[in-house]
Amino acid sequence: MAHFDTLCVHAGGQQDPHNGSIVAPIQQAVTFRQAGIGEPIGFEYARMSNPTREILERNISELEGYAHSVCFGSGIAAELALMQTLKAGDHVIFCEDTYGGTYRLMKLILGRFGLKSDFIKMDNPDAISEHVTKDTKMVFVESPTNPLMDVIDLKHVGEVAKKHGLLYVVDNTFLSPVFQQPKKFGADVVVHSITKYLAGHNDVVGGSLSFDAPELKEKIGFLIKATGAVISPFECYLTLRGIKTLDLRMRKHDSNHRKIATYLEAHPKVSKVFSTSLASHPKQVLHNSQASGHGGTFSFEMEGGLESAKKFVKGLSLWTYGESLGGVESLISHPPTMSHASIPPEVRRQKGIDDGLLRLSCGIENHDDLIADLEMGFARL
Ligand SMILES: Cc1ncc(COP(=O)(O)O)c(C=O)c1O
Repeated sequence: MAHFDTLCVHAGGQQDPHNGSIVAPIQQAVTFRQAGIGEPIGFEYARMSNPTREILERNISELEGYAHSVCFGSGIAAELALMQTLKAGDHVIFCEDTYGGTYRLMKLILGRFGLKSDFIKMDNPDAISEHVTKDTKMVFVESPTNPLMDVIDLKHVGEVAKKHGLLYVVDNTFLSPVFQQPKKFGADVVVHSITKYLAGHNDVVGGSLSFDAPELKEKIGFLIKATGAVISPFECYLTLRGIKTLDLRMRKHDSNHRKIATYLEAHPKVSKVFSTSLASHPKQVLHNSQASGHGGTFSFEMEGGLESAKKFVKGLSLWTYGESLGGVESLISHPPTMSHASIPPEVRRQKGIDDGLLRLSCGIENHDDLIADLEMGFARL
């Protein structure tokens, strides 16, 4: 099999067999000619499938090592479709400190439709088993988590999920398949916010689910047809273009992350750095046993809490203060008021998300320029 960096450029069969174009075509057609009644030629209607989307789905399947992928209009739409394979009364166990939008989806939306969820600390090896009930159908984790960069033992969760017959889902958005392949640890489904590292340029919103089970292919295929959260052909094209440089980009994001985390950890105006790249991370050994890098995203806490954080971000110019992560441009965000604002303040604080917490998404600029810009922020304090 080809090496991963080769797959990034070629997976999915992007050459057009009819005219030899080496770039996947953007197929904007809404409908496709059928040979007769009950005789579709391949595609029917673009909400169900589309040739550009199909190439992207094959591409992501190859990168994550699964037989099937389905792409959606956003990462959260992909998660919603996955939850719609369940029914009222079913129960899902999540690791604590998942993306705030996942929490919002489960607690504020799907809870109203009878889907039950628990967000639990997974440090204790029996934690999942203790929460499993007769209704539990799925266990859903991220590693590292967002925004506190906790590390979940992917192999252990896989074993527990198997023991209880639960569908095991891993959101692999933060590391991408360049650094972590959840299938090796037994994941039945891998979720991506394509918006982040896969597309990688802060110009696409999309999501994906990858899996092997043919029955899931049938269910998810039906769900995208029935609920319609599709990604556009142009965004599929942009994502395919982005993935060609995924391996290169991840390595640069990772090297910037390491250097900037080391710089921040030594800074007198920083009280804590949450980064798997640092020896001070309590689960670095576990992380290194299941992932080969750290990606570009990590968090830190300012001395002086929220007031310091407010002044600090005003002093930055190369780092853009804005939501999201995973693109070539470096971003800084404030999880308590942005990505995790839907989590009630008392729950947030209980989880350790302090009001002075800032999250960095290291882009691919030069690390010295990025550090010099952070210095400008500290100079404001
Ligand atoms: C880990 C993770 N999963 C899922 C999502 C949701 O993805 P999207 O914003 O594409 O809907 C996000 C968004 O920030 C995320 O960080």
